Amino acid sequence: MELRALSSILACGMAVPERILTNADLEKLVETSDKWITERTGIKERHILRQGEVISTYAVQASREALKQASLKPEDLNLILCATLTPDFLMPSLSILVQKELGAVKAGAFDLSATCSGFLYALTVADQFIRNNPNWKILVIGAEALSRKTNWRDRSTCVLFGDGAGAVILGASENQSGIIDFILGADGSNWSLLTLKGGGSAYPPFDPELPEEEYFIKMQGREVFKIAVRMMEKIALELLERNGLSSSDLSLVIPHQANLRIIEYLRERLELPQDKVFVNIHKYGNTSAASIPIALCEAEREGRLKKGDLLLMVSFGGGFTFAGVLMRW
Ligand code: UT7
Repeated sequence: MELRALSSILACGMAVPERILTNADLEKLVETSDKWITERTGIKERHILRQGEVISTYAVQASREALKQASLKPEDLNLILCATLTPDFLMPSLSILVQKELGAVKAGAFDLSATCSGFLYALTVADQFIRNNPNWKILVIGAEALSRKTNWRDRSTCVLFGDGAGAVILGASENQSGIIDFILGADGSNWSLLTLKGGGSAYPPFDPELPEEEYFIKMQGREVFKIAVRMMEKIALELLERNGLSSSDLSLVIPHQANLRIIEYLRERLELPQDKVFVNIHKYGNTSAASIPIALCEAEREGRLKKGDLLLMVSFGGGFTFAGVLMRW
């Protein structure tokens, strides 16, 4: 049988807007408290775009950092894949804006929408290309401007979200590192628990039929929470089991950063010590598709990932979508 190349993350980059919104700032906007937000979510602050800023600026910044770290030029890229549900425009896509800004003249570019699992979905799509085209270099981005789709009058959601971008370069592995296995999952049966209806084609712009609140993210948090904890655990255990591994083999878990209690639940179910599960939700809130690449980049910068380490990334999001990626660093 022909041996296909494993794809590995050659470099990563991240960028977040300068503006910080603290829990104290939110206390002035809605009936909430730093105590409630900290205890129920683990979030202390989040970065959000200023008026007039766009998320493509940060997607480009993160991408430039990753290219620099990989010692690659924009024209070395064969494909740009951007996971987002909050692109600058519906057309052109966010990946096209990045392609233009970088000058990645030899790259194809498209966006992928899988909510908070978007980055892991995009990574596995890129993995398929690399396995068949070992010379390719693919820029995989997760970028979100959730603050633009946040209802600042709804205290049950507005305390949760933040903006930012993370990017990685995927290429064929030259050693034993790379993506070992993955799971992509979806279950549309409960889609109405987490929605962003306005802006889609079901309702034309300014449709008087659509209540104003539907132009923002709406969520039945408690129900979403229950599904999230169940699915994160299921995916993590399934990936370990079918690869003959136990959680003690893992060097680091990078979960989607939606709620510290969800992350803690996963950690307890996997019986892992705190230092084996990466957490940065206190600084950024939930940045949807950007959360895992930002965390990955920080983990790498902090020296939490060493050559040969076994890394598990796991996510869930609206839809619902689920994803897990197991890789050797
Ligand atoms: O990445 C996308 C996927 N999304 C998620 O993973 C989010 C999953 N869900 C969650 O993280 C949690 O459900 C939330 C953080 C959204 C909410 O936490 P909770 O512990 O499930 O709270 P709850 O919705 O059950 O509300 C408990 C109470 C309610 O008051 P009563 O009815 O008990 O009087 C809420 O009105 O907390 C109240 N509440 C707040 N109080 C102060 C809700 N939001 C706030 C707030 N500040 N911001």
